[in-house]
Amino acid sequence: MNAIVFDQLLVSFAHRTILDHVNLQIRDQQFIALLGANGAGKTTLLRTLLGLVPVRSGSVTVLGAPAGSDNRHIGYVPQTRNLLNTARLCGWDFVASALHGDRWGLPRIGKAARKEIDWALDTVGATELARRPLMETSGGERQRLLLAQALLGHPKLLLLDEPLISLDPHHQNKTIQLVKTVQQELGITVLFSAHEINPLMGAVDQVLYLGKGQAALGSVDEVITSEVLSRLYGTQIEVLRHQGRIFVMAGASEVEKMEHSHDA
Ligand SMILES: Nc1ncnc2c1ncn2[C@@H]1O[C@H](COP(=O)(O)OP(=O)(O)OP(=O)(O)O)[C@@H](O)[C@H]1O
Ligand SMILES: [Mg+2]
Repeated sequence: MNAIVFDQLLVSFAHRTILDHVNLQIRDQQFIALLGANGAGKTTLLRTLLGLVPVRSGSVTVLGAPAGSDNRHIGYVPQTRNLLNTARLCGWDFVASALHGDRWGLPRIGKAARKEIDWALDTVGATELARRPLMETSGGERQRLLLAQALLGHPKLLLLDEPLISLDPHHQNKTIQLVKTVQQELGITVLFSAHEINPLMGAVDQVLYLGKGQAALGSVDEVITSEVLSRLYGTQIEVLRHQGRIFVMAGASEVEKMEHSHDA
C-alpha cells in the first residue's frame, strides 16, 4: 500500500512555486530522507501532508485519505520548537502536554492516556526523563521527548522536520538509530528532513529530494547523482563519493553544507 500519493500536485505561494505538478508515490513502512536546499520546500511538504497548506491543484492522499481529513495516524515534530513555556515541566508532563481533547475525548488524562504516555516514553528510551524538569535535559534528550510526543496515538506516519539540527554528530547518530528502531519495530513510514544525506545513509530506504518545484524520489544512488541534482539546484552539480561519504559540490563549494550553514 502507498502511505503518500501526490497526483499532479501544485503547491505555490504568491511569488514561489514549491511543488509544480508533482507526481509521486511513497510505499508504506519506508524510511525516507527529505532533502533540499533552504527554502526548497521541505517544511511546506510536511505541512501539506497535514492539510495545513492549500493545494492549488492536483491532490494529496495520505494513508488512503485526502490530506488533512484525518491526522490521527500522523505524528509530527515541527522544525520550530518553542520549548520556553514548558521548561519547568517534567518529561512526563511535557509528553502529556501534546495530548489534545480530540484524540482522547477529554483533555483530562485518563488511564488509557497515561498508559500511552508511559508507552511512548518507554519506546524512545526516555523513562528516566519522566520526572526530570525539561530545563535539565540535553538537546538529545529533548529530541527523544519530542519523538515520544509524536508517537502518542500510535501513528502510522511520522513526520520529523530537521530533528538533527543543533545536535553533534554522536547525538545525530543516536537520534537516527532511535528513529530507525522505532520505525522498524512499529512498522511505520517516516519522513525525516535533513540538511545532508551522510548521517542518514545507513538508515534510509529512499530519498525525496526537492528543488526548483520538482521532486526526485528513489534510492540514494538513483537520486543523488550529478544529473538529478543539477536539475533540482538549477546549476551544475558534481556528486563525489569518498570513503562511503557523499559530497554534493557546486564548483568548489559543498552545496548541502553551504546551504544550511546558518542553521547550525
Ligand atoms: N505560508 C507561507 N506563505 C508564503 N510563503 C511561504 C509560506 N511558507 C513557506 N513559504 C516560502 O516557501 C519556501 C519554502 O519554505 P520551506 O520552509 O518549506 O523550506 P525548507 O525547505 O523547509 O527550508 P529550510 O531548510 O530553511 O527549513 C520559502 O521561500 C518560504 O519563504
Ligand atoms: Mg524547513
